[in-house]
Amino acid sequence: MRTCYTGEVCLTHLEQTVTLYGWVNRRRDHGGVIFIDLRDRAGLAQIVFDPDNPTAFEIAERLRNEFCIRVTGLVRHRPEGTVNPELASGQVEVLCREVEILNPSVTPPFQLDDDNLSETTRLTHRVLDLRRAQMQHNLMLRYRVSMAVRRYLDDCGFVDIETPMLTKSTPEGARDYLVPSRVHPGEFFALPQSPQLFKQMLMVAGFDRYYQITKCFRDEDLRADRQPEFTQIDCETSFLAEEEIRAIFEGMIRQVFKTVQNVDLPDPFPIMSYQEAIELYGSDKPDLRVKLQFTDLGDVMQDVDFKVFAQAAQAPGSRVVALRVPNGAQLSRSEIDAYTKYVGIYGAKGLAWIKVNETAKGRDGLQSPIVKNIHDQALAQMLERTGAQDGDLLFFGADRAKVVNDAMGALRNKIGHSEFGQTNGLFEPSWQPLWVVDFPMFEYDEDAGRYAALHHPFTSPKDGHEDYLTTDPAQALSKAYDMVLNGWEIGGGSVRIHQEQVQSKVFRALKIDEQEAREKFGFLLDALQYGAPPHGGIAFGLDRIVTMMSKAESIRDVIAFPKTQRAQCLLTAAPSQVDDKQLKELHIRLRPAQTPSAS
Ligand code: AMO
Ligand code: AMP
Repeated sequence: MRTCYTGEVCLTHLEQTVTLYGWVNRRRDHGGVIFIDLRDRAGLAQIVFDPDNPTAFEIAERLRNEFCIRVTGLVRHRPEGTVNPELASGQVEVLCREVEILNPSVTPPFQLDDDNLSETTRLTHRVLDLRRAQMQHNLMLRYRVSMAVRRYLDDCGFVDIETPMLTKSTPEGARDYLVPSRVHPGEFFALPQSPQLFKQMLMVAGFDRYYQITKCFRDEDLRADRQPEFTQIDCETSFLAEEEIRAIFEGMIRQVFKTVQNVDLPDPFPIMSYQEAIELYGSDKPDLRVKLQFTDLGDVMQDVDFKVFAQAAQAPGSRVVALRVPNGAQLSRSEIDAYTKYVGIYGAKGLAWIKVNETAKGRDGLQSPIVKNIHDQALAQMLERTGAQDGDLLFFGADRAKVVNDAMGALRNKIGHSEFGQTNGLFEPSWQPLWVVDFPMFEYDEDAGRYAALHHPFTSPKDGHEDYLTTDPAQALSKAYDMVLNGWEIGGGSVRIHQEQVQSKVFRALKIDEQEAREKFGFLLDALQYGAPPHGGIAFGLDRIVTMMSKAESIRDVIAFPKTQRAQCLLTAAPSQVDDKQLKELHIRLRPAQTPSAS
């Protein structure tokens, strides 16, 4: 029987006999004495094999990396000078009395403690990759986060209810993963993009407080913070106002950070309107660790000679903003050029700049390729409004609002996170959560020539905004909210529409006709008619929360068996072709591939 985990062996076990199970992390043969670092999920312990015990010693000579073994031995002090302060078990070692090889291992394709493995290697050999300390840590952290979530929600009276995986398309706006039906030729299930409609129906069914930690599936372009299947902490409540819902879930995140990380998040979280977030940061998920903000200068630049500014200042839907970078005058030309290239990725056609060398000298104290084309009054107002001090640099974006927001928002983060930003106090290492609220109900989809729901079509308009649904949809704000942490959207939700006539107006604004609405969501609309309670909720991205806590670079590092950026599982080689027989049963005939296969 195991007496404790290998990684737990410490001074309290001194002079005791322990039995450990684990894997050989490394074997060192010191001519006469053999040392093994034995590893299990709790960590490492040093095992010593003495030739005085020939049976054990002979087995130790055969041990190789990743052999799975059982060891029984006596815990003793490590000899002076060999103590390892890095390890919990670093002051002791186990003198082996008996060892058994439970299973040998073939030679692993890489050294487990190699920090420079490619992701392809790691994902192809994921089982071995998961044995590594960092991955063991990440997955244990993930477990502790979900347990903390469950405890909090259970204490608040939330009930875990499962919803189907084989379902109908849900309206979260990504492409569906489809599953063909064998029994119903030509028909398909969709894997859920979220349990949205089911959780709303559970509210109508009277469950009042629901949660689920569940897989969601979205066939969308992948990035570091996105996976085709990911896990939501999905929640819904009845009878609560927006503020009350936010308070519950802010409390949950605070408690999770406290119990898992011993981090005290602010209480309460700051709240910012969508409009303010876009105005100041160009993003609805601003990283508030970065201490830089936009200053709008559209009104100031109306009549300047610099055409780029004047045109953007005058055109509706365009913006002219300055980003004041304290101490930025020390940035070199090549650094500015590199930033100019960087904003180009986001569609910016250039990156105008002014170095504020000496304000007392008026325009002569400003160094820039553009000041000659900006009149005195505009320069004065620009300096006043940005609060620029001697030694600062101003960057400018002038273009359609989306380009300015994307480009200057990205630049803000880039400068903040740079070495310059970190050494000049433009970045504050900390946890900076916030709520972004008052999202518009709709955004205009230029390609489709109509409005689309910004959150989803079941989101309630703000009080007093219902009339805009018919008169001016662009003006309508919603009761939607996102929780943002250090620049990542970690959760999003809304108060829902629970009255049929409001829902119809939203469908009309979205140009979803009655027939389409019935076909797609008839079951929900029917349910809403039976005394649906006022309700609302939120879903958090569990993978993202754990990624941030573990400081991992990608959410793939906190998922046991993730997909690659190209939506493949390298371990099982999925997706893969299937037998003709299977296809036939599913009534599917493949078209000849239009483009070369993606694999
Ligand atoms: P939303 O679409 O905002 O809302 O998703 C909720 C949260 O899930 C996480 N997330 C993802 N994480 C990893 N990979 C992805 N591809 C991915 N997509 C989303 C994000 C996001 O904040 N039904 C609504 C919630 C509601 O209204 O209650 C919904 O799904 O952290
Ligand atoms: P130009 O007059 O094109 O030589 O540009 C003068 C300065 O304005 C250069 O520093 C450009 O990088 C910058 N610039 C050009 N277009 C824009 C734009 N749309 N927004 C901000 N700066 C720009």
